[in-house]
Formats: sequence, structure tokens, C-alpha cells
Amino acid sequence: MAGWNLSLGRRCQLSLIAGYEYKPKVGLAYNKGTILVNFANDTAELKRVGMSGLRGEFSSKLGFILATAGSAVGIGNLVGFPVMAAKNGGAAFLIIYLAFVVLVCFPVMLAEIAMGRAAQKNPVGSFYALSGNSNFWGRVGGLAVVTPFMIAVFYSVITIWIMLYLLQALSGNLDRLAEPSAFGEIVASPTLFIYLFLTMAVVYGILAGGVKDGIEKAAKVLMPLLFLMLLFLVIFVMTLDNAEAGVAYYLIPDFSKINSTVIRSAMNQAFFSLSLGMGILITYGSYFSREEKIMNSTRMVAMTDTAVAFFAGLLILPAIFAINPDVDVQSLSDSSVSLIFSYLPQLFLEMQSFFGYTGASIVATVFFLLVFFAAITSLVSISEIPIAWMVDEKKYSRRKALAVMAMAEGVFIVLATMSLGMVGWLSSMVTYGDINKSFFDMIYDLFYDTVLPFTGFLVCIFCSYRWQRSDFINEIGKGSENFSSSLLASYITLSLGTFIPLILLLVFANNVAQIYFGFNLLGF
Ligand code: PHE
Repeated sequence: MAGWNLSLGRRCQLSLIAGYEYKPKVGLAYNKGTILVNFANDTAELKRVGMSGLRGEFSSKLGFILATAGSAVGIGNLVGFPVMAAKNGGAAFLIIYLAFVVLVCFPVMLAEIAMGRAAQKNPVGSFYALSGNSNFWGRVGGLAVVTPFMIAVFYSVITIWIMLYLLQALSGNLDRLAEPSAFGEIVASPTLFIYLFLTMAVVYGILAGGVKDGIEKAAKVLMPLLFLMLLFLVIFVMTLDNAEAGVAYYLIPDFSKINSTVIRSAMNQAFFSLSLGMGILITYGSYFSREEKIMNSTRMVAMTDTAVAFFAGLLILPAIFAINPDVDVQSLSDSSVSLIFSYLPQLFLEMQSFFGYTGASIVATVFFLLVFFAAITSLVSISEIPIAWMVDEKKYSRRKALAVMAMAEGVFIVLATMSLGMVGWLSSMVTYGDINKSFFDMIYDLFYDTVLPFTGFLVCIFCSYRWQRSDFINEIGKGSENFSSSLLASYITLSLGTFIPLILLLVFANNVAQIYFGFNLLGF
């Protein structure tokens, strides 16, 4: 709110209306957004919300939904989900994925958002405050700040490649991108650093605007455009010959494909896709107005994220079948990276037989723009966590926090970029599970596959056994009468206190055994 109150006490007291902070300081001056008031020996500095460092807030429920959906909708939805679904039983996989979203991920989403909203702080501050100042839980919050920092590293590297592909497709170089050797050469080329700079400029440009004028505004522009582009591409692909074979493959359930590995992948995918275990929802929850209901908005976010994943399947699979009607879907790579950067450019190029090289380049450009928007809004959300931590806990101004974050993140991103062929020792840094790993792989394995489910596990334990259960349920139910006595509230309490943490712990243990020791724990 713009406005402030001054009331003079024995020495000089400032009573402040929300939006300004009081900070004793020597000196008298006025400059942009800062008023220094000097009464007798007392000086007070009033700072404007936003760039100066006070916490921000989303302006509306829609702003929160779009920004949080922007975080959730990412490369995982657009590329990871369709391939995983295609290879693992189509609609059968979708049903299992949906069950995980509703029964396991949704309560964890509510838990994270409720924590942030109740504490009005970043993950460290939230765990610390809600645990009654426990250092142990504060450190758990630290894990939820380090994890997004590290995940942002590999996610940035992939986003940099996407930007490069986007600009290359736009400038008519689709044929070059479709060459089998292109990806290997591109990731080892120093020109990547230009794209690194451009990508970081976009992300930090948005973050510099603050919560309302940066993150929320960007989501309000990028997300509707993303939906439109996705819709356009789905409709367009449906008009191609043989597309229906892809639709059939995607939608006719094949339950024989479902095994324990598929179930584990569905769980991992749903958890990552909803931005859980990364402290993101705690932080975005802390920017969510206390006047709004958590339940409805969270439901919208989960539905949007799942719908985008579903429609991405309706785009990728029919496109594959339209171009190669005899494709063996099992032969598609498991990795999203090789699908986006090797397989799809070839697919787009082959589309020139339908509508020429320019037409094919336009389709490729729209696709990469779609993935780029999805990646940018995810990257913004994940980079905001360490920034929120510096603003809340270190009392940095937002500008200083941004600068520190950009520099620290920049160093890691440069190292990770160089670890994919450019620099020998970074490219084969360690060996575990009998596989030689690069710096990039190391971060991916440790933080995405390992720490993520573990942090999720700790969130459940925290909300169920440390934070007062009644406070937790009250926070979720704020604004809805009788919520605490509803069936849903009982399910949330029961599941978060029992089987959800158990599932997450098993996923964590199994991932550790598989990645670091090369064996399958409990056979799944
Ligand atoms: N939900 C994102 C995706 O599906 C994952 C993610 C979120 C990654 C936030 C980084 C930051 O790709």
C-alpha cells in the first residue's frame, strides 16, 4: 500500500503501514524511492517495496496460479511426459500418473504452500519459524534453498540450448540442426556463452521486476501465449495424415507395459513436474495473499500442469506417427535431451515434404518458443528461492541478492556448460555406479534424483509431526468453513503422516542404490 504514518514518541517513532520498513540510519537525504527523515538525533529510512528489498506479494489469485503453473509447466511436461507415456503403456501410464498427482503430490503441494503462507518466509525462514526456531529444521530449509540453486544449474544449461535452437530455427538453419552431429558440436561450441548471457539476461530481467511486476507479469504474458502455441501445434499436427495412429497409440491403454519401473518413473515425473521438493512452493506460497483460499488455487495449478503434459502428448506422438508411420516407439530415447535436440529437429525438417522448408522452420520455431517460454518461467521460479532467502535472512536488498545470485549461479552454469565436451576433466569428473560422470551429470543425479524426494519426505514429516497439525490444516482451510472436519482434511493429515513420506523415502533409497551403487533396491 502506498502511504505511511508518522507518530512522534519520546525519541521519534515511526509507525508504518505495510509496504515500508523502518531502518534507523544516520544522515539526511532524499533519493529515488527512499526518504530519509531526520528528527533530532534519530533518522529513519523509508524504503519502497519492490527493488529495495521488502517481500513482495502476488496481486491476485490469478497471478499466483499463473506464476505457480509457470513454474510447474516446464521441459518435463512438454517432452519428458509424452515420451514416458508413449513408451510405458499410453493411457495406462496416464492413469497411474494421475493417481500420483492426486493422491501423493497434491497433499505435498498443499503442505509446501501452507508452510510458506503461514510463515511468510523463504524455506529456511519457514522451517525455522514454524518449528519454533529449531536449528535442525532450519538446516532442512537450507536443503530446500541449495537444491533449487543446483537444479537451476542444469536447467539453465538446457534452456541455453533451447534458446540456441530457437534462434537457429528462426534464422532458417533448421537443416543444420537436423544433422546427426549437430547437437554434439553445439554443446561443445564456445558460442554457447553468448546464449548463456542472453538466457540469463531474460531470467534476471524478469526477476529484477520483483514478485508482482516481474514474476507475475511475465507469467501473465508467457503462460497464455504458451497455451495458445500448444493449442495451435496440437490442432496443426492433428491435420497431418497418419496423426490418428499416434493418437490411438497414446490413448489406448496397454496395462501389460506397467511394471515397477514404470510406476517409479511416473512418481518421479509427477513430483518433479509439480515443482515439489525444491522450496519453490514454500516461497511462492509466502507471496500468496492471506485472503485467498489455498485449496482452489493449488487445484488449478495441478490441473493446468497435468493438462499441459497431456496435450504435449497429443502433439509429440501424432507428429512422430505422421512422419514415420512405422515408428517403433520403444526405440525412442528415454532422455528428454536427445528427443528435443536430436530427434525433433529431424522430424521438423521432414515436414518440409508437406509444406516446404519455410513451413517446417515455422513449426520448429513455434515449438522451440513454446519450450523456451515453459523453461523460462520454471527457471525464474527456481532462481527466486535463493534470492528470497538472501532478502529475508541476509537482509540484502533485492538488487544485491539478484547480483549475488547471478554471479554465483553464473559460475556453476559456466562450469556445467563446459563439462559437456569442452573441458576434459569437467566432462569425466567422477565414476560411480560403474559410469563415468560429468559435472553436469553429477548435479543432476545428486539433486534431481536424490535430494528432491528426500526433501519432499522431510516436508511431510515436518508438517505432520513438528508443525502443529491443527495449524497446518487451518492454514489450508483458511476461508473455507468446516474444512478441518472434512474428509479431505482427514485424508491430507493421514496420508502426509503415513504412506506419502514412506513412498518418498523408498523412491529416494531406490534412486540412491541405483545411481550410486548400480543395483535395484526392493526390485523396483
Ligand atoms: N516442473 C518443471 C518441469 O516440468 C520442473 C522445474 C520446475 C524445473 C522449476 C526447474 C524449476 O520441467
